[in-house]
Amino acid sequence: MLFDCDTGIDDALTLLYLASLVRAGEAELAGVGTVHGNIDPLTGALNTLRVLEAAGLEAGEKGVPVAVGAARPMAQDVHYALDWHGRDGLGDTDLPEPAGRPAAGSAAAQIVRLARERPGELTLLATGPLTNLGAALLLDEELPSLVREVVVMGGAFGHPGNITTHAEANIWHDPEAADLVFAADWPVVLVPLDATHPTAVHDGWLDRLAAHDSSVARFATRILEFYADAYTPTLRRRGAVIHDALAAMLAVDPRLGEYVQRPVRVELRGELTRGTTVWDARSLPADDTRRPVKVAVGSDVEAFQERLLAAVLSL
Ligand code: BDR
Ligand code: CA
Repeated sequence: MLFDCDTGIDDALTLLYLASLVRAGEAELAGVGTVHGNIDPLTGALNTLRVLEAAGLEAGEKGVPVAVGAARPMAQDVHYALDWHGRDGLGDTDLPEPAGRPAAGSAAAQIVRLARERPGELTLLATGPLTNLGAALLLDEELPSLVREVVVMGGAFGHPGNITTHAEANIWHDPEAADLVFAADWPVVLVPLDATHPTAVHDGWLDRLAAHDSSVARFATRILEFYADAYTPTLRRRGAVIHDALAAMLAVDPRLGEYVQRPVRVELRGELTRGTTVWDARSLPADDTRRPVKVAVGSDVEAFQERLLAAVLSL
């Protein structure tokens, strides 16, 4: 798996989930790239190194390479989500400097290099704005044929947006890049808010995490406390939506999801709707010539919550 993210609290939980799979020999993490979004991409890369090291993996020069990616979107100003993720992207926990350093070269170049080294093998998991993936598509027109699957957390269809009335943050942060990704001829799985919101964790789950005596569980509890404070007004009860981990889990075990296949486009011009994902839900055959995207519309919530908790407690 090649992971592209904007680390970020739910991205950090996703790194812990992936690290538990790597440590159990159930997955290989070929590399991580970071992108603007929740925070700037250098802070995101340092956070990624910190989290992987906390999870007991070698990261940086001697382990999983972590490349710094795009610092801004393709065609608009950059925005961060510090209210949701903290000044440091990790709930103002102010963790110490990581031991490893970011890799030389951009995250987009890393995507192309690893895809060329391992044609047909890589799952590209993206849980931030899609600028690095879009840039990689522009770097190498053969990229779509070299990647096994692209799994994206992003978008909203029936569910309201979480950054504007209709738009979800990862797509809204770089609509042009997202549209390039949905237009490319590769298999895309999209995990929108419609699928992630029902997986929100609440007191019982958070209490079980907090009761566990390990440094990783204490770290996860601290960052989730910040995230739950931010989420409580939206959810109208204490809890948190760990969006990105659902995309990772569906990439690993697609049987946990329910899906529909639809061509997806991104609204690029709407005054009120820029950055909104639009699917063609009319009866088939669709008149859209785009390759259909496999959109998750639901998941096995209990299995997701239990597996995520078990993964964090295993570290
Ligand atoms: C997405 O936006 C980010 O804030 C989260 O990390 C997640 O990837 C949810 O809309
Ligand atoms: Ca994210």
